[in-house]
Amino acid sequence: GLVNTREMFAKAIKGGYAIPAFNFNNMEQLQAIIKAAVETKSPVILQVSKGARNYANQTLLRYMAEGAVQYAKELGCPNPQIVLHLDHGDSFELCKSCVDMGFSSVMIDGSHLPYDENVALTKKVVDYAHQYDVTVEGELGVLAGVEDEVVAEHHTYTKPEEVVDFVTKTGCDSLAISIGTSHGAYKFKPEQCHVDPATGRLVPPPLAFDVLDGVMKELPGFPIVLHGSSSVPQEEVDTINKYGGKLEAAIGIPEDELRKAAKSAVCKINIDSDSRLAMTAAIRKVFAEHPEEFDPRKYLGPARDNMEKLYKHKIINVLGSNDKL
Ligand code: G3H
Ligand code: 13P
Ligand code: NA
Ligand code: ZN
Repeated sequence: GLVNTREMFAKAIKGGYAIPAFNFNNMEQLQAIIKAAVETKSPVILQVSKGARNYANQTLLRYMAEGAVQYAKELGCPNPQIVLHLDHGDSFELCKSCVDMGFSSVMIDGSHLPYDENVALTKKVVDYAHQYDVTVEGELGVLAGVEDEVVAEHHTYTKPEEVVDFVTKTGCDSLAISIGTSHGAYKFKPEQCHVDPATGRLVPPPLAFDVLDGVMKELPGFPIVLHGSSSVPQEEVDTINKYGGKLEAAIGIPEDELRKAAKSAVCKINIDSDSRLAMTAAIRKVFAEHPEEFDPRKYLGPARDNMEKLYKHKIINVLGSNDKL
C-alpha cells in the first residue's frame, strides 16, 4: 500500500538526491506521475492541496492514489514507494480528516502564524498523526506570493536560530523552509533578473543557499523540503503563447539550483506549476492544429504524454531519484 516519508527521506539524504512531490487533481496527471516513477524506478510523493480536494473530492483522490499503487505493480514495479500527502494543510481538522481517510503523510502549514501558535498547531497535528504512523511536514518562514491563501509581499527567510526549537517542540518529521522560491509561474519580476548574454534569457537572482546552510548546520541530517520549485520551462511557455495563450514574463527556478539543493539535506522538492504548463501547452497545440477534434482523449492523451516526459526529466536530470527502488 501507500507508505509514509520516513524511510524514503532517510535514504534520500544519505544518497544525495530528492524525492519528487508532484501535485495531482485528475486522472491524467496521476497516470503520468506513476508511469514516470515506474519507468525511472523512483519513489514518489503524490500531493493533494486543499484546492485539489475541493476540485476532485478527497475520497476520490484517496482511492485514486491507492489504485495507483496497484497500477504501478501492473506496470511492472513489484515494490512501488508511493506516498499520499496533504499539501499545505491549514487546520488540525483538515489534517485529521486526511489522516483518518488514509493519507500516509500530511503538511501542517502554520508558517504565517506567530511562532508559538505555529509550534502549538504543528505539535497537535504531529501528536495525532503519529498515532497512525502518518508523517508530518511543518514549515518555518514565509514564501512570497500566495501560499495557503495567504498573500505575502516579500519572502521571510527561515531563521536558522529557530529550527532546532521548532523541530524539538513539535516532533515534526520534515521542515519546509523559505530561501527565495515561491509558488506559481511568476516567481520573479523581470527587473529582478539579468539577461544571459549567451541565450538572451532572463536569469533570476540566486536562492539563499546561505540560509539553507544555516538550517543544515543547526539540524544535521534532518529532512528539508523545498516548495515552489517549478522551473517554468520556456519551451512550454512558448508553446502556450504560440497557440493563443498569454503568459507574460513567466519565470521559475533554474534547474541548476534545484540540482544543487537535491544533493543536500533537501529531500523533497515540490513541483506543480510545471505540470500545469506541460498539460496546457499540449492541449492548446491539439486545439490549434486539430480544431475538428472534440473527443477529450484526443487532447488529454497528448497532455498526459507531455507531463510524463516532464516528470521523467525532473526525476532523472534534476532530482536524481531514479534507480532507487
Ligand atoms: O501550493 C500550491 C500548489 O501548487 C497547489 O496549488 O492550491 O492551486 O491546488 P492549488
Ligand atoms: P510550484 O508552483 O513552483 O510548482 O510549487 C508547488 C508547491 O510548492 C506545492 O506545494
Ligand atoms: Na537531498
Ligand atoms: Zn507549496
